[in-house]
Amino acid sequence: YGARVEDDLRYLIQYRGLGFAGVQADVRPRRDFSTDLLPQEYSTFGLGDYRESCLECEYADGSRGADLRYVSCAVRPGLTVPTGLPGVYADENAGETLEVLLRDATTGLEVVLEYGVIEACDVIVRSARIRNACKDKVILHRARSCCVDFQVPDAHDAIIFYGMHAKERVMQRTPLHHGKFRIDSTRGASSHQYNPFWIVCDPSADETHGNCYGLSFVYSGNFMAQAEVDQLIQTRLVMGIHPQGFRWTLEPGDEFQTPQVILSYSAEGFDALSNRLHRLIQTHVMRGPWRDRRPPVLVNSWEAAYFDFDEEKLFDIAKQAKELGLEMLVMDDGWFGVRNNDCTGLGDWFVNENRLHGGLKALVDRINGLGLKFGIWFEPEMVSEDSDLFRAHPDWALTIPGRPPVYSRMQLVLDMSRPDVRDYLFDAMSAILHSANIAYVKWDMNRHLSDVWSALLPSDRQGEVYHRYMLGVYDLLERILQEFPDLLLEGCSGGGGRFDVGMLYYSPQIWCSDNTDAANRLDIQLGTSFGYPVRSMGSHVSVCPNHGTGRTTPLRTRGDVALMGTFGYELDLCKLSDDEKDEVRRQVAEYKQYSELIYTGSFHRLAMPSGDSPCAAWIFVSPDKHEALLTCVRLRAECSAYQLVVRLRGLDPDRRYRISGKPYSLTGRALMTAGLAVPTIKEDYSSITFHLTAEA
Ligand code: DGJ
Repeated sequence: YGARVEDDLRYLIQYRGLGFAGVQADVRPRRDFSTDLLPQEYSTFGLGDYRESCLECEYADGSRGADLRYVSCAVRPGLTVPTGLPGVYADENAGETLEVLLRDATTGLEVVLEYGVIEACDVIVRSARIRNACKDKVILHRARSCCVDFQVPDAHDAIIFYGMHAKERVMQRTPLHHGKFRIDSTRGASSHQYNPFWIVCDPSADETHGNCYGLSFVYSGNFMAQAEVDQLIQTRLVMGIHPQGFRWTLEPGDEFQTPQVILSYSAEGFDALSNRLHRLIQTHVMRGPWRDRRPPVLVNSWEAAYFDFDEEKLFDIAKQAKELGLEMLVMDDGWFGVRNNDCTGLGDWFVNENRLHGGLKALVDRINGLGLKFGIWFEPEMVSEDSDLFRAHPDWALTIPGRPPVYSRMQLVLDMSRPDVRDYLFDAMSAILHSANIAYVKWDMNRHLSDVWSALLPSDRQGEVYHRYMLGVYDLLERILQEFPDLLLEGCSGGGGRFDVGMLYYSPQIWCSDNTDAANRLDIQLGTSFGYPVRSMGSHVSVCPNHGTGRTTPLRTRGDVALMGTFGYELDLCKLSDDEKDEVRRQVAEYKQYSELIYTGSFHRLAMPSGDSPCAAWIFVSPDKHEALLTCVRLRAECSAYQLVVRLRGLDPDRRYRISGKPYSLTGRALMTAGLAVPTIKEDYSSITFHLTAEA
């Protein structure tokens, strides 16, 4: 893992005897062979490696520990997705998988380490299968996906993406010192608070220089990622399911499959790392017809009307949408059960005909009749106490008997580990989706898990509920996609609270944030782009003053920022002025013109909107480097502004590019080394774009 070298690197291994380092019985009388000091492929608890462990298991007699030794290995063509989980796939031409079997001789416990390799994307995909080949049951207290030990005592920085609701994926860089540095989630979702993607890099690494190692967890539930600098200044990285609240029983013959971790690498900084990950996710994680199709330009009813709509209101917005060149109307929260605010109705997935007079099909037919597609919102995993579903099945919610549950947004979480809950949801959702011509579903999740206890599991298996919840969500997603293979799914969790590679296996796009302020979206989307492709980022133009921040940004900027994503609108189009409508028409046409470049091209962050930076800038470059689209947002307008020069990336140095709005052409080399002068634009947060085309 890292830069490509042909040699056998075992010469780096230092056999050292250190005070208080344990050695296994069979290596005595050597004192210089300790699992506490030597690099481990899958660290275990209890037998002398005192650093962070991947595996902690308990046997029938209550003892813990596993001395995993190499047994055999095999290489098979392709990468296969683990059953029941999301994953990275590749056929035999694109990748291969190494399987290494390890065994604990005392108990018979086996671990199969998997290393899927996709050379074109420069990634290794790791996971582990823990097999109970013992006589009695085994309890897993920790079952992480990977361990990476850096043997050379180099200094590293960790880059993480933290945040909160409406402020997701803010980049933070921290030097690693002795001790343990970790990010995690015990919320039952990957979370707004820490994204399960992080980078470990040289302290001097930047966008274009330095070693950087990216770790992405292909999972949407509880996780922990940890870096530990040990006594020898060796850095150990581990990533996997969070051990808190986790306790998994394996009967003899059972196997536990960990989710995958994608290990990516670049020797040339973050730009190359991100682009490799973008390519990997778009070609080996996303699937189905929408993987390669441009998503339709949609208008979503949420910020347009919230709960205040009926069929006529939606139809009016749809008519206006059609007139402006949009392609789909999405009916967000509020169409089902009794749902006039966010306190009631979740779980009752049948149409509220007091709101949609004439029913869903009549509305969808009318909207289809305009030539628009129709999309709908669900929040399948949740239930309101004030709902018919909860009144009929109170035990379907995650609650602890005898204890009042914790509420969030006044709602409870359904026990997705239960097959009967999933069957109900599948039937209810399928009935709606079969009842009308619905092209798109926004799958929302607006609270985190608490009171995690399942009525169907015995007391000694309650530690399985968090993971079984996630397996249940994945199962329902898969069943819906199998039933409706053409459906476009957009993931959502109060915006980007479940923005992870796991969800992208089911939904090629995820609503990036409930914060639709273009100024804030610069941080959120550019932060997200470190680990996720632009195709995955749900991004819409909303009204000003912004409903969340009160800020006013130019409509043009809002459009340019939304172009760094799936592009759509989140406002009442009927209320726009004629000038604004003209601008929307222009934006939609621009999106249609450039969408292929945006989704298939490389993406380069040229200036981040942080610190003293006067601007944020990014560029899309087509795969053949023939065409590029540069966007620059001036953050604060100034009376006496410095000349703004942006150095581009990704172009062909030897080609000359014509630049829209400029009377001259420049070589890629000049644009990338000297840069492009951007005219001073008045007004805070004003944006400017340049289209570059290579001369013949
Ligand atoms: C949270 C989502 O992020 C919003 O876009 C909207 O769908 C609301 N939920 C609806 O309740």
